[in-house]
Amino acid sequence: MQSGEIAQWVVDAQSAFQGAKDLDELKLARLAHLGDKSAIAGASRSLGNVEPSQKAELGKAIGEAKSAITIALETATQLLEVQRDARVLVDEVVDITLPPARAHKGGLHPITIIKNEISDFFIEQGFSVAEGPELESGWLNFDALNIPADHPARTMQDTFFIEPLESGMVLRTQTSPVQIRTMLTQEPPIYIISPGRTFRADELDSTHSPVFHQVEGLVIDKEITMAHLKGTLDAFAAHMFGSDAKTRLRPSFFPFTEPSAEVDLFFNGRWIEWGGCGMVNPKVLATCGIDTEIYSGFAFGMGLERTLMVRHGISDMHEIVEGDIRFTQQFGIGL
Ligand code: FA5
Ligand code: MG
Repeated sequence: MQSGEIAQWVVDAQSAFQGAKDLDELKLARLAHLGDKSAIAGASRSLGNVEPSQKAELGKAIGEAKSAITIALETATQLLEVQRDARVLVDEVVDITLPPARAHKGGLHPITIIKNEISDFFIEQGFSVAEGPELESGWLNFDALNIPADHPARTMQDTFFIEPLESGMVLRTQTSPVQIRTMLTQEPPIYIISPGRTFRADELDSTHSPVFHQVEGLVIDKEITMAHLKGTLDAFAAHMFGSDAKTRLRPSFFPFTEPSAEVDLFFNGRWIEWGGCGMVNPKVLATCGIDTEIYSGFAFGMGLERTLMVRHGISDMHEIVEGDIRFTQQFGIGL
């Protein structure tokens, strides 16, 4: 081994490092010229076999060559790293002005939005929200509400009966059975509303749907009068339709209230039927074990589709039931 040979290794390494076009190529060059199998590494290993007289000189030459190769490697590494960083900035640039692939956020159906709005209003007034099943016993949907067996509301035209008919089960035709469920399980004073889905064998047309929603209200306490009912309906109407809205009670008949009335709403310059109401019939209170000498109460029931249609000037029920998002989106996401 001669010093000229060692000098050539340095020159070869330098030119290989300079010739590397990227860090991968540089790595291969490093293994070839500085790795365990490189000439210089072999020379270091064989120093032990060298004659003692030459050892010092050769060792020095190999050490100097190694450090020269190492410096050349560092220089090349720094240069290629700078080039790589510059290239990455260009190659991986993100165009923040590009429109994102936007996923539409789901929203609540307007019926759900109005249901939540009504619930929030009554909760503020101290009411709680009660729920009942959509598949209901005929006894709770009819009998307990003083709807006699021969009442027209029971006939096949109005009610969806569940087979087998002996089960006595129906799809509830109104939210009023929740009144009974509440009075059977809670002691007065009772202040509840019960919004929910109801079913009747009505054709889908511009004002009716076989599946619709009602909100029931029930108050049972001492010395409750129709004035409380009227005041509650007026406050409810003002909340839903604005402070100009008024209600009017028109004499009517429901088996479970006595006296009974239709609730009309004055909105946008005209009177519209909104729902039914009345003083809870003492027969119904007695069925539920409530002492009619001490307690009296009122109840009301409104259609939610009707409420939404009146408030937003929707003339066709189909809009509400079809679920076209071009319609529902107008009400916002409602979360
Ligand atoms: C009742 O269902 C009574 N349970 C209301 C009540 C409760 C009276 C408590 C007294 C005390 P009615 O059948 O009128 O009443 O229905 C009430 C409202 O439900 C109607 O005014 C209407 O807004 C709505 N409604 C009834 N049938 C349909 C239908 N097929 N599609 C959409 N809305 C309906
Ligand atoms: Mg009616």
